[in-house]
Amino acid sequence: MPRTAYSLRGRLLAWLLISTLVIGSLALIDTYREAVKTANTVSDRVLAGSALAIAERVVVAEDGSLEVDIPYVALEMLTSAAQDRVFYRVDGPPGRFITGYQTLPSVGDMKGQSAVFVDAAFRGEPIRVAALERSASTGINSVPFIVTVAETTIARRQLTQAILLRSAFRLLMMILGAAIIVWVAVTFSLRPLYRLGDAIAERNPDDLHPIDQTVPSEVEGLVETVNSFMVRLQSALDALRHFTGNASHQLRTPLAIIRTQLALSARATSLEEARQAARKGDEAVAHAERILAQLLLMAKIDAAGSTQAQPLALLDLAALAQEITADHVPGAGDAGVDLGFEGEGSAPIRAQPLLIGELLRNLIENAIAYAGRGAIVTVRVAVDDQFVRLDVEDNGPGIAPENRPAARQRFARGLRGEAPGASPGMGLGLPIVEEIAGLFGGQLSLADGPGGRGLKASIVFPLGSP
Ligand SMILES: Nc1ncnc2c1ncn2[C@@H]1O[C@H](COP(=O)(O)OP(=O)(O)OP(=O)(O)O)[C@@H](O)[C@H]1O
Ligand SMILES: [Mg+2]
Repeated sequence: MPRTAYSLRGRLLAWLLISTLVIGSLALIDTYREAVKTANTVSDRVLAGSALAIAERVVVAEDGSLEVDIPYVALEMLTSAAQDRVFYRVDGPPGRFITGYQTLPSVGDMKGQSAVFVDAAFRGEPIRVAALERSASTGINSVPFIVTVAETTIARRQLTQAILLRSAFRLLMMILGAAIIVWVAVTFSLRPLYRLGDAIAERNPDDLHPIDQTVPSEVEGLVETVNSFMVRLQSALDALRHFTGNASHQLRTPLAIIRTQLALSARATSLEEARQAARKGDEAVAHAERILAQLLLMAKIDAAGSTQAQPLALLDLAALAQEITADHVPGAGDAGVDLGFEGEGSAPIRAQPLLIGELLRNLIENAIAYAGRGAIVTVRVAVDDQFVRLDVEDNGPGIAPENRPAARQRFARGLRGEAPGASPGMGLGLPIVEEIAGLFGGQLSLADGPGGRGLKASIVFPLGSP
């Protein structure tokens, strides 16, 4: 089971909610400021109008003092909305209170003809104050006076609140709508993924063909990865099937021989007979070992063929061939074969050393095994323009040209005319050589050996550039 750390839908919703809440709060703060400003502008104009109406009713009495006859409408236009209350005062020249609420805060600094507004408190309530400076004329001189009108701020606050609430409600509806859209969209968008899951779940375990479901472009990469994984899995499975099939088939003969020899040794009447059975049994075990080794190698190549991903390192074929030839010199000596190496300098190719080692071993062992006593076997590496050429030649009986194509097939052996059972191998050597060569861009060719005798197996690899 994969770990489900979070749900895509949940994550998207969380992102959406958090971001809209942050942006929404900022928008609401701005709306609030704007609402306060709007409410003040509207109400201030009325407040100033009422102050002006009062100012127009200020007259100079006969004794030179100021008199006011507060017009009813001046205050009436203020008590419009809500339960706001209105206060006023009129002050004559410097500090002389004329009429109104004497404790009403007055505005200190006047700015010429225009009204001045301030926020203040009166009788424990917040108020908005407007003050206006005018002067009444006696004909000879003019007497300056200040009209101050104030009102409580209930109506303004209500207006601000209404605007704010309305905005908040709209915002909430928007967030809710967006959340529903995201929920539905995610459900729809995920549908191809569910279908993909179903399609894979319905497959039978042997079905490893690539997924060809239509998927959203974001998931294409994932599906491609899964597909290439399935291809690799398929070739690994094929290699495994090949291996088990071949192994059970090819091991049957040596195992039967071992059983026969064991039975013979059990019935042996003399030590000599028993020894002979043991020797034959041992040969059969060696044969079985060789078969297993070759089959494992084959499986490894089958798997490597489809999974070659990393770039290969440079390998000096001349050095490797010389080393492996040297390893075989004692064995060749025992078989009466003169094994030698020819080649100078380095011969770089891009290949995997272990596999190339197996390739060399197969060719050299073939030559030693089939060329016969007294034969001369030469391993040669030469760099030729853009290629590196490897020859393994012998002057033994060789393979007749018409048999050469067959020699490259798996499980072909006994091509020199000997009985198949007489061959030490199982006919996998040359196919292995060919496949390994193919993995690294090389090509195997079989030709006559020196002087038209024997066999020359050659492989041409592309020269590895640094
Ligand atoms: N240098 C050679 N000279 C003559 N005949 C050869 C030579 N190399 C291969 N052959 C013939 O080709 C056959 C196939 O060789 P190959 O290497 O593929 O298989 P093998 O040697 O029989 O078994 P294995 O290599 O898997 O142990 C051999 O059985 C042999 O008859
Ligand atoms: Mg062989």
